[in-house]
Parts: sequence; structure tokens; C-alpha cells
Amino acid sequence: MSQIDEKLVPHPHLKQFYSKESGREEFVNKIFDDTASKYDPVNNILSLGSGVRYRKQALIRSGLSSGMDVLDIATGTGMVATSELSIVGAKGSVIGLDRSYNMLTEVGGKLNIPLIQGDANVLPFADDSFDFVTMGYALRHVDDLKGTFKEYFRVLKPGGTLLILELMRPTNKVIYQMVKLYFSVMIAIISIPGIGGKNEGKLIQYYWDTIDKFVSSDILIETLSETGFGKVKAHQIVNVFTEFTAVKT
Ligand SMILES: C[S@@+](CC[C@H](N)C(=O)[O-])C[C@H]1O[C@@H](n2cnc3c(N)ncnc32)[C@H](O)[C@@H]1O
Repeated sequence: MSQIDEKLVPHPHLKQFYSKESGREEFVNKIFDDTASKYDPVNNILSLGSGVRYRKQALIRSGLSSGMDVLDIATGTGMVATSELSIVGAKGSVIGLDRSYNMLTEVGGKLNIPLIQGDANVLPFADDSFDFVTMGYALRHVDDLKGTFKEYFRVLKPGGTLLILELMRPTNKVIYQMVKLYFSVMIAIISIPGIGGKNEGKLIQYYWDTIDKFVSSDILIETLSETGFGKVKAHQIVNVFTEFTAVKT
């Protein structure tokens, strides 16, 4: 197997969450299925200003416009898809895809868009199908970065844009300590029954651990370029919120 065909995991095996590496996918499916019904309120508490408004600004910044056909991968409860619908309008289209059945049930109760249960790594769409592919706050959870990027490249039309929103491990030591402290406080608050609960607290702990152990921006940029993407850029706000954009040139 050549190096380009080898799997690239977003973070090392996290034994505190799944005892065997083979349990990664099952753990991710279960934690999102278990927390889907409280995802929106928990996200509102945790958001750090990254709500629907921020997602909309990021989409506009990266070039999404009226009439485009969009695939939102790992759509969750539809926070990115909601903004996309308001930008593309009636002449465009938005499809949501997620691996979690319960997340899709949540978004199905809010948005009238086609929803597909599937994996970012194996997309059930023809080559060259979309003007825009998006993924909000889910790249840390995929099984294989290279396989995922290959699929994004394949389903985008030539000239189409990929936008990935992520929380990256701050490189600035002071900001790193501040974000770490913020998450430890949030884990305590969100674990309180009534505000969130045990599963939601575990989810936020998992968020922090995956941010802390996530591959660097440089690796993501390099891997996107190796996949064939051009104009690969990372726009960062407060050394945490990162918008990766890339074009199928
Ligand atoms: C943190 S939520 C993000 C939801 C939404 N994009 C947002 O911005 O709020 C992460 C979502 O990624 C989904 N997910 C994780 N791994 C996935 C994969 N390999 N393929 C598709 N969806 C995945 C989870 O089920 C979950 O709904």
C-alpha cells in the first residue's frame, strides 16, 4: 500500500472512550445518537459564539451564493444547513448527510431538505454533483481523513468549494490554557442533570480531548493539497475557530 492510500486518523486512539481502536466508529455513533435531543441547547451554552450566525458568515466568506447546490456532511441538527438554505434560496438546494439516525430525526423535525444516513467516507452521490460541500465541527470524528477528503473531491463539481469548520488546538499557550479551562468548566456545568446530563458531559469531554489531540492545521492543509484540491486556505479567528477552504481546480 502506498503512503497516499494509507489511512490517516484525525487523532490517536482515545482509550478513555473506546477500549479498542476498532470501537472508534461505534463510540462516535453512540455518543451522537445519545445526545441528539439535547444537542441544540447544549450547543447554545457551549457555543463560544459559534452559533448559526457565525456559520452563516463563514459560508458567505467562503463564497456560497444564491442558486448553488450544497451537500452538508455531518449535518447534525442542521445548524450549518439552516444557514445554507437562507443563502442558496429557492433556486439552489441543500442535502444533509449524517451517520447518526437520531441527529437526522432532529433535523427532519426542523428543515424540509433531503436527509441521508451515511458516512463521510463513502458518499452515495455521483462524481461532480455539488457546487459546495460543507462539514461543520465533525472532521475530528471521521475514521479516515484521506478517504474523507477523496470523497469530498470526487462529489464536488470542477471549480466547486469545500468548507470545513473546526475548532483547532490553540498554538498560543495562553489561549490554549484559557480554552482548556473553559472546557473543564463547561463539562462540569453541562453534566448537571436538567442542564445537560451524564452523556452530554461525556460528549463535551470527548470534544476537548479530540481538539487537544487533533492533527495540526498544517497536516490538514497538506492532506487536502495531496488529494488534489487547490487554493487550500485556513482562516482562523481567536486561534481556535478555523475555516478550511479548498477548491476542486
Ligand atoms: C458536533 S456535530 C456537528 C453538527 C453540525 N454540523 C453543526 O455544525 O452543528 C457532529 C456530527 O457529525 C456526525 N458524524 C460523525 N462522524 C461522521 C461520519 N464519519 N460521517 C457522517 N457523519 C458523521 C455525528 O453524527 C454528528 O451529528
